[in-house]
Amino acid sequence: MAELSTTYMGIKLKNPIILGASNMVSDINQLKKAEQAGVAAIVYKSLFEEQIQLESLQFEEELHEYDFRSAEMEKIFPEIEHAGPKEHLLALKNAKNELTIPVIASLNAIYSPTWVEYAKMLAETGVDGLELNFYRVPISADADAKMIEEHQIKVLKEVKAAVKIPVSVKISSFYTNPLAFISKLNQAGADGVILFNRFFQPDINIDSEEFDFPWDLTRKGDYQVTLRYVGLIYNKIKASVIANRGIKTSADAIKMILAGANAVQMVSAFYENGVSYASTVIDEMQKWMDKKNYNSLDDFRGKLSKEKLNDEFVYKRAQYIDILKNSDQILKKYPLR
Ligand SMILES: Cc1cc2nc3c(=O)[nH]c(=O)nc-3n(C[C@H](O)[C@H](O)[C@H](O)COP(=O)(O)O)c2cc1C
Repeated sequence: MAELSTTYMGIKLKNPIILGASNMVSDINQLKKAEQAGVAAIVYKSLFEEQIQLESLQFEEELHEYDFRSAEMEKIFPEIEHAGPKEHLLALKNAKNELTIPVIASLNAIYSPTWVEYAKMLAETGVDGLELNFYRVPISADADAKMIEEHQIKVLKEVKAAVKIPVSVKISSFYTNPLAFISKLNQAGADGVILFNRFFQPDINIDSEEFDFPWDLTRKGDYQVTLRYVGLIYNKIKASVIANRGIKTSADAIKMILAGANAVQMVSAFYENGVSYASTVIDEMQKWMDKKNYNSLDDFRGKLSKEKLNDEFVYKRAQYIDILKNSDQILKKYPLR
């Protein structure tokens, strides 16, 4: 029977299906269910800068109520400026203790000192790895690409120097050339890259004339940008490549391995079908491999990457021109009415 094991940033996984970061982790029973269903690793939801600042603000406010005792309090809490999200760290530690599969922490900070300080705290919980969630949506033209990228590379280097566990980076696809940035992350010591995060985008309610943030999951087919970049980066970097965004079925996961991914992260599909759905995905992957006579993932990983394809056409501009030239094909699918 086909063997599905793989490696993600040096961590051995029994198969390539990872439960990606989400709020599902808040329920330890869901995590146990995911483990039972065969999920190979879980990423704990991100600890956010806002969460850290909010809690330390509340903590300081509480302390001000005891200002008259401040000297005493300073002795009790000498690290007062480091007061942080205790609950998150405790829950993460609990998840790590309760599960046998690898648990990966995730951090989304803003300021360099927070990145480093909380990376260390997350690592101290005993997790197997750390994801840096570089979720950043520029809201002004003042910070250019160079500035943002240099800051992110600096953060990665500082975190790498501060912790001993492997560190991966989860990025969005909104870089002028994602491949160039991924290469820089690789050079800066990233043990893995997760391609790609998905930004929650705002919408407008035209009745109330207000912004609203629909809690949408990703949609079928949303994996295609990821598929392209996984295929382009295959074998170009030492860091593991994890495909994410819109991977809903075993077929989607297989496509990512064919393009060159080491493993995949799935979230929306587990919200839609329940975490037990992981067993169906794994089972179907195994059956597909048996049918194709593949014994291991390495037998077909990267088979359709840019590097391995004799016909490089699919990754080139020529494909775009060809599609435009043959755009009448679309009429067969959607006849004009
Ligand atoms: C409810 C919810 C919470 C999420 N929380 C996090 C998070 O804390 N950190 C993170 O890096 N990604 C988070 N994500 C993004 C997912 O990890 C994933 O990147 C995204 O949903 C795309 O993958 P999918 O198509 O499999 O859902 C969250 C997604 C959802 C739907």
